[in-house]
Amino acid sequence: MDRNSLTRRQFIHIGTGAVAATAAAKVTLLEPNLLSASARAVPPSDTVRFASIGTGIRGCELLQASLRVPGIECVGVCDLYDARHDAGKEAVKKDVPATRDYRTILDRKDVDAVIVAVTDHQHRKVVADACAAGKDVYCEKPMSHTVDDGFAMIDAARKANRIMQIGSQRVSSILYAKAKEIYDSGRLGDVFMIEAYWDRNTASGAWVYPIPPGANDQTVDWNAFLDGAPKRPFDPVRFFRWRCFTDYGEGLAGDLFVHLISGIHFITSTNTVAQRAQSSGGIFRWKDGREFPDLIETLYDYPSFRVVLRCNLNNEGGEFIAFYGTKGTMVIKDSTLTYKPQDTRPQAESYSIYGWPAKLRNEYLKKWHEENPLPAPLNFKAEEEAETFATPAGYNDVPDHQTNFFNAVRSRKPTVENEVFGNNAAIGCHLSNFAYFNKDVAVWDAAAKKIIKD
Ligand SMILES: NC(=O)c1ccc[n+]([C@@H]2O[C@H](COP(=O)([O-])OP(=O)(O)OC[C@H]3O[C@@H](n4cnc5c(N)ncnc54)[C@H](O)[C@@H]3O)[C@@H](O)[C@H]2O)c1
Repeated sequence: MDRNSLTRRQFIHIGTGAVAATAAAKVTLLEPNLLSASARAVPPSDTVRFASIGTGIRGCELLQASLRVPGIECVGVCDLYDARHDAGKEAVKKDVPATRDYRTILDRKDVDAVIVAVTDHQHRKVVADACAAGKDVYCEKPMSHTVDDGFAMIDAARKANRIMQIGSQRVSSILYAKAKEIYDSGRLGDVFMIEAYWDRNTASGAWVYPIPPGANDQTVDWNAFLDGAPKRPFDPVRFFRWRCFTDYGEGLAGDLFVHLISGIHFITSTNTVAQRAQSSGGIFRWKDGREFPDLIETLYDYPSFRVVLRCNLNNEGGEFIAFYGTKGTMVIKDSTLTYKPQDTRPQAESYSIYGWPAKLRNEYLKKWHEENPLPAPLNFKAEEEAETFATPAGYNDVPDHQTNFFNAVRSRKPTVENEVFGNNAAIGCHLSNFAYFNKDVAVWDAAAKKIIKD
């Protein structure tokens, strides 16, 4: 069929169908980041010696991932729960010295850097002490338990001239690098709306972790755990499921929003805090004594766009971020990224003119087509532009994130997710919780470095 013989409406319809078929078929596998390719050699003199403070779930994950990072060596582990000393050594496949007291790690001259994977309410103290002891710090996300904590940690890093990286590893992901490339290219047009969620539907996803047999006030240093939090008798539920409680964690905002916010900030090059936040949610299903909601939605105002985030522990929805632009939509869903352009060519009005008499409508259409002869200039090559990218099977962004940190330790250049970046993302979590618990709009007062009510 001769394209010139098609009506504009027919042409657009066929064109759109082709885009959909092409988009579904064309998936580009992204190349793993060369930075962390295990083959890359680092001279022995550049080896960075580190210890992990906190060898629970995340500490062990990080130690395992560290085995894929060239030029580093774990030389110690630390945790308040004795069984986690063995867990840490098993994770790093090495019999390193283990302690309950992180200060013995900080006193060691052979430790260049520390991974801080302790509960959120202890980040400030451990990070500040580590900086003061001259150690560079990889601190898990969310950087802070409170707004004050975050600024104190920035001061500590600056005062001691330390490299700090926060642990939202998506910022070092090859998928997010591709998303940033597309965002920066302008192919999305103006993005005024960003939507993201991270939904889970399991007991583990809701932090109902099993209590290990043998965990008691002899094997756990409960008093050290309570440092900075109200005193109370030993409670294994609070120790192992601390994310549920305001004394130690920040609920879904600190656990999952922080990754979404960090990803959005990275892709959009945002290095500021949202101006306002409004939250809604509740404890609908996991009525186990927890203080944080199992469903929360927060709407954030940024200067040039709005962001709506959701975490729901009552449905398996996975991880999703969508950027809705005037020229196209970009969606990150778990390990894939899809960019779909939209047809922004001028089109004859095809809706409201059906409320006109036929004579007027036909005159309008005739004139419009005279002024916009077919074929139109094709500035929209959808078949060529619709793209899907995916990470290769087994790709893990954690070694990439660790590599970025250890490279910064060697180069003394700021990391991609430094303390200012991490603090901004963490404040986004605090805004969400402030709005939820106060049932009010949370406003970021940048001058006072405080969250206030509207
Ligand atoms: N980046 C990610 O994807 C990711 C994933 C999971 C957890 N995290 C973060 O990692 C951190 C740890 O979370 P987790 O899931 O491993 O929790 P966890 O409860 O499994 O482990 C935390 C450990 O910290 C130890 N600890 C607390 N205070 C300590 C101190 N002063 N000295 C030594 N050890 C101390 C506890 O004994 C505990 O074993 C949190 O900040 C969490 O938000 C990040």
